[in-house]
Amino acid sequence: MAALIDGTALAERMTQETAARVAQLSSQHGIVPGLAVILVGEDPASRIYVDRKVRQAGKAGVRSFEHRLPADTDQEMLLGLIAACNADDAVHGILVQLPLPPQIDSARVLDAIDPRKDVDGFHPVNVGRLSTGTGGLVPCTPLGCMRLLETVIEDFRGLKAVVIGKSNIVGKPVALLLLDRECTVTITHIRTRALPEIVRTADILVAAAGSPGLVQPDWVKPGAVVIDVGINRVRGIDGKARIVGDVVREGMGHAAAITPVPGGVGPMTIACLLANTVRAAERHGV
Ligand code: GUN
Repeated sequence: MAALIDGTALAERMTQETAARVAQLSSQHGIVPGLAVILVGEDPASRIYVDRKVRQAGKAGVRSFEHRLPADTDQEMLLGLIAACNADDAVHGILVQLPLPPQIDSARVLDAIDPRKDVDGFHPVNVGRLSTGTGGLVPCTPLGCMRLLETVIEDFRGLKAVVIGKSNIVGKPVALLLLDRECTVTITHIRTRALPEIVRTADILVAAAGSPGLVQPDWVKPGAVVIDVGINRVRGIDGKARIVGDVVREGMGHAAAITPVPGGVGPMTIACLLANTVRAAERHGV
């Protein structure tokens, strides 16, 4: 049987470590790390994610500043809020939940965040730092994928890693992190030809396609480690909605280890967001 990599338990441990760092910052420097969470509109999935982020922040002792704005918010108003958060010493991290409504230029919004407070790691300065391996804040989901992989892989050097999906949020940054660990990395995407053959070469597979059940068991090499980033809402034959990943888990016994959905990458994204917030406070608030 493939081992299940328990993201919920690992995220819990990480959040406890973060809470200890928060307590230290507070007692030694009188600083309470603060996270501004900005949600524009009513997207149900985004609301759930934001609620979870705020709840977990509270558990770690990170103060959150919630800004829930209507769907018709205009760009200037949002840029004004970001400028205020940039200038606010109580705010060490700024998170703008994506996607944003169509009237807003997401790239301009992300550019406006102070890179030192960019706890999502989406600002071009942090993207550049990641690509050159020169520090900076790293996107949370890719960071979570690496922490999960580290629980089962000691030495990444020379391993063949295949990433499915080329998004700025997951695919591209996780590929860079794997490259930094000296894996041989292939990024695949919607136009990739002969995807199953490429996936079969992988020692490490990161599936971030957003396509329910895309990866079949016979695509996966025996002994491979599989990280399933997909969070897809589907309706079962009983008519009930449930969350499934990008990977079919049944029949995957030949993999060395696999993350479940839910309970794999999802909780790690939030744990890494809080760790990034404390890191930002340690670096620039003290
Ligand atoms: N939307 C989906 N994933 C993310 C994420 O990691 N951060 C933000 N800000 N928005 C998202």
